[in-house]
Amino acid sequence: MEVVIVPDAAAGGELIAEAMAELLRRKPDALLGVATGSTPLPIYEALAAKVSAGAVDVSRARIAQLDEYVGLPAEHPESYRSVLRQQVLEPLGLEAKAFMGPDGTASDVRAACEAYDKALEDAGGVDLQLLGIGTDGHIGFNEPCSSLASRTRIKTLTEQTRIDNARFFDGDIEQVPHHVITQGIGTILDARHLVLLATGEGKAEAVAATVEGPVAAVCPASALQLHPHATVVVDEAAASELKLADYFRHTYANKPDWQGI
Ligand code: GLP
Repeated sequence: MEVVIVPDAAAGGELIAEAMAELLRRKPDALLGVATGSTPLPIYEALAAKVSAGAVDVSRARIAQLDEYVGLPAEHPESYRSVLRQQVLEPLGLEAKAFMGPDGTASDVRAACEAYDKALEDAGGVDLQLLGIGTDGHIGFNEPCSSLASRTRIKTLTEQTRIDNARFFDGDIEQVPHHVITQGIGTILDARHLVLLATGEGKAEAVAATVEGPVAAVCPASALQLHPHATVVVDEAAASELKLADYFRHTYANKPDWQGI
């Protein structure tokens, strides 16, 4: 995997948005896998700014959701579908038909998970998958010890993740659902390019385990080591536990200009 250390979250957002723009210039109907959480916001802002400036045309882009709460109606402000409509689709001027995601309200959750994996495949697969990381190393909602071969399925959240996410539910953990649908780690690994952004000191330990630890289900993000094209973008704070930080800085500074991320 490639590790890119950037000065701050805004620089990470700009770097990744430019990679997305570059992809869309090559493949205007690319399928972009998007993540929720606070971390990817600078990416979405930078991409929307490029669209406004006429630097990229996203009108044919397609958007795929990574994970969803089970039981929240689609119109609930904290359903990931609503969050992505507000943070990604609307700013990019995309309509609902450009969007695909699992149905968190389905009566048959298992069938909904299988249907989503199939829909991703039928759509030609995800071209670029954005990822954040949980403080426990989760990607999507694949909590520690998730199978590294897992497909889209229902998961039960750890108490820590519910505590972390309570801030989106008026600080009230009781409102945070226990269950979620998430693309599996195997599903995520099917994407052609994985780009994980992590910012802030709170993510430093998880980033070190992801990049420099063993490939182990206890740190789900470490599965990125198995992918032929995985990019981990971190700000200085999130990079603070990396032993090889200087090496990563050196290689990024000296890579060929044409290579991109
Ligand atoms: C949630 C999402 C993850 C995200 C994580 C970190 O659990 N399911 O996709 O990476 O939060 O969120 P944040 O970026 O706000 O720290």
